[in-house]
Amino acid sequence: MTDSSLAPVRWDGEALVLLDQRQLPHEETYLRCTDHAEVVAAISTMVVRGAPAIGIAGAFGVVLAARAAGKVSEGRRADYLQAALRALREARPTAVNLAWAVDRMATCLASAGAELVAALTEEAERIFDEDLAANHRMGDLGAALLSPGARVMTHCNAGALATAGYGTALGVIRSAWREGRLAEVFATETRPWLQGARLTAWELQRDGIPVRLITDGSAAHVMRTRGVAWVIVGADRVAANGDVANKIGTYALAVAARYHGARLMVVAPASTVDLSTPSGEAIHIEERTPSEVLEVAGTRFAAPGVEALNPVFDVTPADLVDVLVTERGVLERPDAAGMAALMA
Ligand code: MRU
Repeated sequence: MTDSSLAPVRWDGEALVLLDQRQLPHEETYLRCTDHAEVVAAISTMVVRGAPAIGIAGAFGVVLAARAAGKVSEGRRADYLQAALRALREARPTAVNLAWAVDRMATCLASAGAELVAALTEEAERIFDEDLAANHRMGDLGAALLSPGARVMTHCNAGALATAGYGTALGVIRSAWREGRLAEVFATETRPWLQGARLTAWELQRDGIPVRLITDGSAAHVMRTRGVAWVIVGADRVAANGDVANKIGTYALAVAARYHGARLMVVAPASTVDLSTPSGEAIHIEERTPSEVLEVAGTRFAAPGVEALNPVFDVTPADLVDVLVTERGVLERPDAAGMAALMA
């Protein structure tokens, strides 16, 4: 099986059903969100995570807010909706897909007539469908760049769990496996939240794709000793000059890849490209609670009083990106001119 049957974000007609990614891979539990505040909480506590997936969740959050707004007095309705849009948009700051999806829903809200909730539901479903189609297209485009027998490394989880399905980086890996181009995947564990260990290794194992988990610190050594041809990652925001914000550790992988002659492929849909952000300097990097660094599964292992810093994304300068794969095409060595042409 090379298409993942995972359904991290699903609309059941009444509520948003989210696969609780905090419990994976050991428990498959689902959380049913019936109002937008529950969606905001689910996004910020990482029940649902990954740039496209939080965008889709945010879009259905707008549907829930519009439905509830029908029960609010007419005088308060506009304020209620504005507050809901703002809360959804700000639930996490770095992945532009969330703001992009909420803004797209706000445009639909402004133009919808009497059948407001139906129109918004259709728009959110379109966002979902477009993401799934983009992933399959990017999978084909990216896989074509790999030579048969390629060994690749991936970071964090840019898979079905992070999207409508199939995945961005893992979409390329799935397509490459189907086409017989892939020998093996090295998945970094991705401290502190362990998206690689808990999610990516599990997703690939379910699809029968050969994967070996490595510690983050062993990445450069594995590149040097195991002949890694490509480092393939997703993105949370691609700036107008081609700088890429992605999970913390991506920048270090990019530096190590350049040194070892491995190529860096960033796979991201157009909804992740933000031409209004001129460069990576302007990207808000989310910092999460230090307890994610100081503790593992709720048990503190650092000495009492030790402090931690927990930036959860970093910026890879465009110079270190060999290829950006979007559903609109492949851009080699992205720069401002290439980005503008790609998005025109
Ligand atoms: O903190 P997360 O798990 O939401 O971070 C996810 C990532 O950084 C992914 O690599 C990125 O969103 C691309 S997902 C297709």
